[in-house]
Amino acid sequence: MTGKTVFISGGTSGINLGIAKGFAAQGDKVLVFGRDPNKAEDAAEEIRAQTGGTVMAGSADVRDFAAIRELFERATETLGAPSVVIAGAAGNFMSPAVGISANGFKTVVDIDLLGTYNVFRAAYDFVLKPGASLIAITAPQAVQPLPQQVHVCAAKAGVNMVVKVLAMEWGQAGIRVNAISPGPIRGTEGVERMAPTEEDKTKWSSHTALRRFGTPADIAQAAIFLSSDNGSYITGTILDCDGGMKLGDASGDFITPPQR
Ligand code: NAP
Ligand code: COA
Repeated sequence: MTGKTVFISGGTSGINLGIAKGFAAQGDKVLVFGRDPNKAEDAAEEIRAQTGGTVMAGSADVRDFAAIRELFERATETLGAPSVVIAGAAGNFMSPAVGISANGFKTVVDIDLLGTYNVFRAAYDFVLKPGASLIAITAPQAVQPLPQQVHVCAAKAGVNMVVKVLAMEWGQAGIRVNAISPGPIRGTEGVERMAPTEEDKTKWSSHTALRRFGTPADIAQAAIFLSSDNGSYITGTILDCDGGMKLGDASGDFITPPQR
């Protein structure tokens, strides 16, 4: 039982909800928030029911700095100062650039990139110093160009740089800043948008070295490790947690010796 306080933007569904459950299950107090307050309440109830943990639900749009600050102030009064802050909220849709308006591009950049900065900048004023761990949830698109994802590639590349620069600036205050780059995680909105059919999913996982999609629990374990004392000398890192997906196409049989 560690008893830390953990704030999680986007902790109300998918990967980030899995992260929230992971921390709550080890005895940490958790704030989960998204835009929709009802979704947040339902998520908090689900986490409490599964883990018996202390969970606060909130609502704030990560594009609205003042709203995040106000929520963090209330959550700090209720749960105590956070030592872990996860910036996980994001938005995505599949479209070639010719189908993306200036506002469509800006919307994703505002949620993913500005939103990550806003969450970290607001967190700076509340987190325990020294000792805090800030973690962004980035994506392979940050370093891997992908058609129909120009907006996400641009936004997540920016997220990786925010992580690295803040790691340099805030290390002297004892704050570590890292990112996790998940591969495809089964059962999530992100995967449903990018690989809607079973055929898409099978093709994708069969090309991955470990031959399977990840789970939210896989990403939770990475976040728990990064924020624990075991990760105390790690900062400015982008941790791939993707079953080897980013290595490239690993389909084929490489362990049956060839017949001579
Ligand atoms: P998801 O289930 O759609 O979760 C998105 C979360 O963000 C929800 O809690 C949502 O709540 C919140 N959110 C969205 N826009 C927001 C805003 N403007 N302000 C505040 N909260 C907002 O997504 P997911 O697929 O699990 O993805 C989670 C993270 O993992 C994202 O950063 C994504 O880029 C990354 N990722 C996912 C995959 C994958 O396989 N799914 C792979 C690589 C990286 P509301 O709707 O209530 O706002
Ligand atoms: N293709 C092209 N453009 C799209 C689009 C699509 N599939 N979906 C939205 N847009 C455009 C809209 O047309 C609009 O641009 P316009 O004003 O020029 O018409 C702009 O994006 C903003 O759309 P809006 O619906 O007002 O944005 P929002 O802030 O309500 O929602 C999204 C943000 C679009 C990212 C929405 O998909 C969302 O809320 N996503 C959160 C969940 C998610 O994406 N999960 C996966 C995480 S990886």
